[in-house]
Amino acid sequence: MSLKNFLTDTKIWTSNNIAIIPKPQHIIIKEGEFIINRGTQLLTNNLPSSERAIDLLNEHFLKAMGYKLIPKLNNVQNSESKIFFGIINDKNFPKEGYKFLCNQSGITIRAVEPAGLFYGAQTFLQLLHPEIFKSGNSSNVKWTVPFVEIFDFPRFSYRGMHLDVSRHFFPVKFIKKYIDFIAMHKMNIFHWHLTDDQGWRIEIKKYPKLTQIGSLRKETLEDNKPYGGYYTQEEIKEIIKYAESKFVTIIPEIDIPGHSLAALAAYPEYSCTGGPFEVATKYGIFKDVFCPGKEETFTFLENIFEEIIQLFPSEYIHIGGDEVPKNRWKNCSDCQRRIKTEGLRNENELQNYFIKRIEQFLISKGKRLIGWDEILNDNLNSDSVIMAWRSYKHGLISAKQGYKTIMSPVEYCYFNFYQDDPNYEPKAFNGFLPLEKVYSFEPLPDELLNSENSSKILGAQGNVWTEFMYEPKDVEYMIFPRLSALAEVIWTVKENKDFDDFLSRLFEHTIRLNNLNVKQGKTFSPKVTLDFNPKAKNYYLVLDPNFNEGIIDITIQVKKGNKKLVENINSIIVHKATGGKISLKYPYSPNYSAGGNLALVDGILGSQYFNDNKWQGYLGTDFEAIIELDKAKTINKVTARFLQNNTEWIYLPEYVEFYYSNNGKTFEKIEVVKHNIPLKKANEIFSFS
Ligand code: ACM
Ligand code: ZN
Repeated sequence: MSLKNFLTDTKIWTSNNIAIIPKPQHIIIKEGEFIINRGTQLLTNNLPSSERAIDLLNEHFLKAMGYKLIPKLNNVQNSESKIFFGIINDKNFPKEGYKFLCNQSGITIRAVEPAGLFYGAQTFLQLLHPEIFKSGNSSNVKWTVPFVEIFDFPRFSYRGMHLDVSRHFFPVKFIKKYIDFIAMHKMNIFHWHLTDDQGWRIEIKKYPKLTQIGSLRKETLEDNKPYGGYYTQEEIKEIIKYAESKFVTIIPEIDIPGHSLAALAAYPEYSCTGGPFEVATKYGIFKDVFCPGKEETFTFLENIFEEIIQLFPSEYIHIGGDEVPKNRWKNCSDCQRRIKTEGLRNENELQNYFIKRIEQFLISKGKRLIGWDEILNDNLNSDSVIMAWRSYKHGLISAKQGYKTIMSPVEYCYFNFYQDDPNYEPKAFNGFLPLEKVYSFEPLPDELLNSENSSKILGAQGNVWTEFMYEPKDVEYMIFPRLSALAEVIWTVKENKDFDDFLSRLFEHTIRLNNLNVKQGKTFSPKVTLDFNPKAKNYYLVLDPNFNEGIIDITIQVKKGNKKLVENINSIIVHKATGGKISLKYPYSPNYSAGGNLALVDGILGSQYFNDNKWQGYLGTDFEAIIELDKAKTINKVTARFLQNNTEWIYLPEYVEFYYSNNGKTFEKIEVVKHNIPLKKANEIFSFS
């Protein structure tokens, strides 16, 4: 902490601003900072293993600082002014974990594998001034990293974000940006929902009509113009390569046997009725689905998966399996024959049969299957994975049955639900999923604790269905800041989570994303209403009790006819100690009470007028106050404001000491803030932090 006049806008980044998202598991902050400049050496003991981490740094260094650092192979770790990336040998070191050390001799990042170094580099960027995320030389920024020791690693191995590109199509450039968002938050999976009723979005060489016909719909809900788009296999390869450079695995989803009207519009022969069909122009669930009664359907799908497997290196392939109406199967002679010959009891078992065949095909190709939780039955291979979406409980059931499970339940993980203001957001879903709810998500159900099935929860994923997201900016708006909250849910151990603390870090994180030109949803819109007390004829401003940190500006105009009698602006600072209980060791001067003890924590600021009845005065004694908070809170900053007016004989304290206590009895000193502001300085307000 340091003395800082908050009225000046300096660009020096101090350790006050450490705001890493997701929060590292262990972090110790020390006094001091390391300065990076063109002369800083960049060293590594393993060039190939540190390449992607170094590329990430240099990508941002070049854009924001105007230079790159050229890496040199060198195992000397203790030279001065260096950044060192080191692969170490340690069997007990956590997968994807890293150690980040910054001290006077420089920065050292160690890991046992390249992904760990990469996440160390992501943390590195977040320790720099947020203009590191800007393009265009920020020449007046001092590029410093605070002295820290960090030991960090993920809680879960599967940390995913999904994107539906069928309902609306998003260009290659945005897909790469989306992958950057994932990687920036130390997430490692991009679940790419490539096909649905409203559009088939991936080129399949063997079946060109899938894109010629299936990628186009004749109109959209929002207007009556034709709409289309798809990725060529070359583009897919380019995106996969890009994702690999950021340690993101792409899991492609080909959604079958339902949600497949776009494919059936191109190849109606693989339906029960034979069609004809059109690519859907409206949203919902459609009755025409693939026909598992026909052998040709399986040949068709296996040929498609053959190309998918050729393209995507991912171990897992997502086959959808959600929301399959059985109406057509009931009335299809092929389907009914299949039910008989396979000894199935009904159409639900026909769905199991269908999934099982696709599963066996994928296994024969060395791949594993993921499907939405409708595929859950006793019969799946133990390596297949259930993606729980219908509810949290479905995830619990899946893990209890011993299936590997990814948690993406609708209650916590559907980022197409509105988060803030239904009138403003690009949505038409009825769900509401505010940031705090996402943050409160616990992927590992209590019931699984201490059971061997707890390890079946691989992680979690945020889902983004794009029926009402038309442009990349709409997607950005809907995923932020919720993606940041989810990233912390998946990465950070439960014990380290604290929503207030997250929000204070999110404030800095928002600046980073702004610098990356990302449109973000509002974190939270507090409601402020007016109330009237008829007896006292008083008006009250009633503030949302959930608003616990921020600034409220109130403009007051009083008019009579056309004449303005009063116009002023008042600011209230709402903070963690607002309304806290104050105990004073020495009394304030009765002439300058400012209305009593509460004056110190009511958030109403004194002005430059010493007699505005907002300043509390102390005459001939020290000032010593204890603020008791309503509950234990993480404090990032403590600020006290003082007025100096030497013509009125009002002076700043010589120094301010800050202490904290967890029990109200023993106090630990945090900081002594001294200053050299001269006594002759006339009328001015200073903040000591
Ligand atoms: C889904 O939301 N239909 C998986
Ligand atoms: Zn059929």
